[in-house]
Amino acid sequence: MARVLGSFLLLVLVSSVALATDPSPLQDFCVADPNSKVLVNGFACKDPSLVQADDFYFDGLRMRGNTSNPVGSKVSTVFVHELPGLNTLGIAMARVDYDPWGLNPPHYHPRATELFTVLEGTIEVGFVTSNPENRFITKILHEGDVFVFPMRLVHFQRNLGNTNARAVSTLSSQDPGIVTIANTVFGSKPDISIDILAKAFQSSSDVIEKLQSKF
Ligand code: GLV
Ligand code: MN
Repeated sequence: MARVLGSFLLLVLVSSVALATDPSPLQDFCVADPNSKVLVNGFACKDPSLVQADDFYFDGLRMRGNTSNPVGSKVSTVFVHELPGLNTLGIAMARVDYDPWGLNPPHYHPRATELFTVLEGTIEVGFVTSNPENRFITKILHEGDVFVFPMRLVHFQRNLGNTNARAVSTLSSQDPGIVTIANTVFGSKPDISIDILAKAFQSSSDVIEKLQSKF
């Protein structure tokens, strides 16, 4: 009886282990079939006999992203949604373009660590550690430099120059997700109540209303 109970407890323990990264693939590939009605963690596989080279190919990074926005930067993602061949492979990437002094504003990736490489320009980067330290770690990067943003920590990049800058990131999930702090807090649908945000940010309702109107 004790042995049966022991085995049961072990089974519960093993089956409840939470993975910090995407699960490993159990076959050579599993190209995402976005039209499948099957609901799984990720996407169901397209019939392997129908898979083509184009399922592993994406040409959307040839051009500079459109940076005409208030922050002067554009993140062009190559996640599983853009490249179905990434399904189950635990990796994705992005191209980031910056106007002079453009900012990729504070955000985090709920499912990925990010390895960031500067292709052109000089870029200031930073991330903040979790509570209670909230330590700010920052660095100025030059062409060819690499920096890692640890999984789920808030980070940003800013172009420190009067010319355009460009970078590329690799992320440790097929679907890293992007949570942009300002949009999440001040641009939720529906709005978070002004009194909640005024208290949380220790500021007046006017300030919160103004911020909400921008997101
Ligand atoms: C993209 O999310 C980036 O931080 O470069
Ligand atoms: Mn990022």
